[in-house]
Amino acid sequence: MIKVLVTGAAGFIGRAVCDKLLAQTDVQVVGIDNLNDYYAVELKHARLATLQGRPGFAFHKMDIADWPAMRQLFQAEKFDYVIHLAAQAGVRYSLQNPHAYAESNLLGFTNVLEACRHYPVKHLVFAGSSSVYGCGSSVPFSEDQRADHPVSFYAATKRANELMAASYSHLYDLPTTSLRFFTVYGPWGRPDMAPWLFTDAIFQGRPIKVFNHGKMQRDFTYIDDIVEGVVRVMEHVPTGELPHTIYNIGNHQPVELMAFIELTERLCGREAVKTYLPMQDGDVPITYAETSRLRQAVGFTPSTSLDSGMARFVEWFRSYHGM
Ligand SMILES: NC(=O)c1ccc[n+]([C@@H]2O[C@H](COP(=O)([O-])OP(=O)(O)OC[C@H]3O[C@@H](n4cnc5c(N)ncnc54)[C@H](O)[C@@H]3O)[C@@H](O)[C@H]2O)c1
Repeated sequence: MIKVLVTGAAGFIGRAVCDKLLAQTDVQVVGIDNLNDYYAVELKHARLATLQGRPGFAFHKMDIADWPAMRQLFQAEKFDYVIHLAAQAGVRYSLQNPHAYAESNLLGFTNVLEACRHYPVKHLVFAGSSSVYGCGSSVPFSEDQRADHPVSFYAATKRANELMAASYSHLYDLPTTSLRFFTVYGPWGRPDMAPWLFTDAIFQGRPIKVFNHGKMQRDFTYIDDIVEGVVRVMEHVPTGELPHTIYNIGNHQPVELMAFIELTERLCGREAVKTYLPMQDGDVPITYAETSRLRQAVGFTPSTSLDSGMARFVEWFRSYHGM
């Protein structure tokens, strides 16, 4: 039996990772989340309801920035693996409320590292982000490119996490891996991201905001592919003098924003009312993952087509909203 801590278990990716782990009979999952109101708390509760009561699952409402609570949890549970997904997410919100990012992504992350140091685990896998490729990165983004010119505070905290983790890997021989996720979408997704925002607005006849006048590309990655990667990487523990690794996990197939909107319109059966706007501060015009490092390590890279992934998302969206 192995015991895995999943932080951010009520979140989009956290719920899906717990769901996958619980499908294995030899895994116990402890989920934690502070259930904050960055977006609808009822969605977080609804996600948790899909996990609670299942054999091998336990949930604690807890803030990763609360060191005494974290220490107590690690001391009591003796985790084998930690999958750390709790964070203040969102590029744009980091321009409005940087303190939320400092609290969860810097202080909270320090607590995760300290807990793993004092109550050793086999592997700490945590959520990085494609946003660390800021100014000066060339596409496709590969992990060996420099990532020292972030264009948002969110990206800066995510890059900081990688450097903080590398220091713990060096100092305390703690195996750590950062997974740089590329625009994740799918059932139980996030209401602050384009797939949800556009689908919702199209169904309600409200205008959608098309930034940079539509001249953007995103490497949209389906949730099941992300989860498959997370679970495989968990079991692929880095070794050597510095047991620290970084992998991109993206679809390796950037899509034009206007093509994405057309697809969403087709799936919703309605045309979107479009408001064209300039580029937003903190945004990048393109994301595009080079994924050969991940494939070499774990024999897998995301491959779900946007057409089939979005069809599943829109179907889920309708049923969640009773449409
Ligand atoms: N979804 C994406 O496209 C994407 C892309 C790149 C990186 N990421 C990263 O992946 C991780 C998961 O993202 P997501 O899309 O599931 O986001 P999410 O917001 O749905 O999930 C994060 C969860 O963490 C919880 N949380 C936040 N701060 C906390 C704290 N201090 N203590 C305890 N719980 C806390 C939230 O309540 C939320 O349920 C995040 O680290 C995010 O930055 C996501």
